[in-house]
Amino acid sequence: MKIEVLTLFPEMLAPMLSGSFLGRAVEAGHLEVNLTNIRDYTKDKHRRTDDYPFGGGAGMVMFPQPIVDAIEARDPEHRARRIYMSPRGRTLTQKVVEELAQEESLLFLCGHYEGVDQRVLDLCIDEELSIGDYVLTGGELGALVTIDAVSRLIPGVLGCDESSEDESFSMGLLEYPRYTRPADYRGMRVPDVLLGGNHADITAWRREQSLEITRKSRPDLLDTAPLDDNDRAILSQLEAADKAAAKLAEYGVTTERIGCAETAAFPKKWFARFVPENTRKAAKKQCFSGRRHIGFLWQAFSMDFAPHTDGEEARAKLAEKQPSLLYLPEENVLLKVDGAVPADAFRHFILTDDALTFTYVQPHKSGFGPYYCE
Ligand SMILES: C[S@@+](CC[C@H](N)C(=O)[O-])C[C@H]1O[C@@H](n2cnc3c(N)ncnc32)[C@H](O)[C@@H]1O
Repeated sequence: MKIEVLTLFPEMLAPMLSGSFLGRAVEAGHLEVNLTNIRDYTKDKHRRTDDYPFGGGAGMVMFPQPIVDAIEARDPEHRARRIYMSPRGRTLTQKVVEELAQEESLLFLCGHYEGVDQRVLDLCIDEELSIGDYVLTGGELGALVTIDAVSRLIPGVLGCDESSEDESFSMGLLEYPRYTRPADYRGMRVPDVLLGGNHADITAWRREQSLEITRKSRPDLLDTAPLDDNDRAILSQLEAADKAAAKLAEYGVTTERIGCAETAAFPKKWFARFVPENTRKAAKKQCFSGRRHIGFLWQAFSMDFAPHTDGEEARAKLAEKQPSLLYLPEENVLLKVDGAVPADAFRHFILTDDALTFTYVQPHKSGFGPYYCE
């Protein structure tokens, strides 16, 4: 790709364009960048490029002659897509970057002072581009940001072509967390799923993380991201987990959400732990023909497939063991809890410890727990 940059301060751009991967891309011929000093084209005898604004007001305005002459000299046949860096332009996004990366040639005009005379834009410029809703002193940083982002998409510029396909915005969502060695740093462990080597599990975990991070940092992206039914199910699970956590926070209980894969495995583990082997088959059969929406597990309990225990005894064990996991079957939410969960916090819930050795089920409905298992 050929890039022309017109600026009053070429020295600001030169180091960035010769270092790191941009420098290598230029050296390898993937990128050709020319810096032009607009001042070299002024016909003003004092080498000025700006003047007072007509109509008054603060600041100076870059006058047309040197800019138009520079553009016509550098891009005489108007082959380049000509861009004026400007806070009032279209905002640079990864989508815009992808669009620009298709061009053979780009020309960036960097303004300074209060900007450039409108006639330059009307005469020579294809579009105005902003790098965000703030005002910089000049267009150079904006041009550099754009050149950096566009260059990464040019085949051969990055070491491995794939590394630009799996990043924030490329799939319409923000990126999942990345980890490298060591697996344990200052007691902070890399999530087990990434060490396990199961690619399907890793892909599912990454997708869930991307959805969660996007939902928290840039919920607006979810309106346009291509989401499937599974993504939507995860998002509603995340929503429900947030609501549950907020409710528990009112009671002074802190929580940590457990991932969707573990949550999905939880009812199965729970069923196997509490429903005796000799009744498991019958319990499953019965439950699948019944109400599915709160889960067959819940029904296994309400239909007495799990052995009842004495409420007092179970409650005493609860106090003694300090359960640490809370499962909301209707919402399919599993939270790690730190503190005692009050019985009136939720309509239905299951409280257990990591090893599922104890379960407390809200006893407001006949046939429901408490249960425990040792
Ligand atoms: C001080 S600014 C001029 C701001 C202009 N008077 C306005 O209010 O829109 C000087 C130059 O910085 C560049 N610039 C400032 N903010 C920018 C942004 N957010 N994105 C891209 N370029 C920007 C433009 O080239 C602009 O001509």
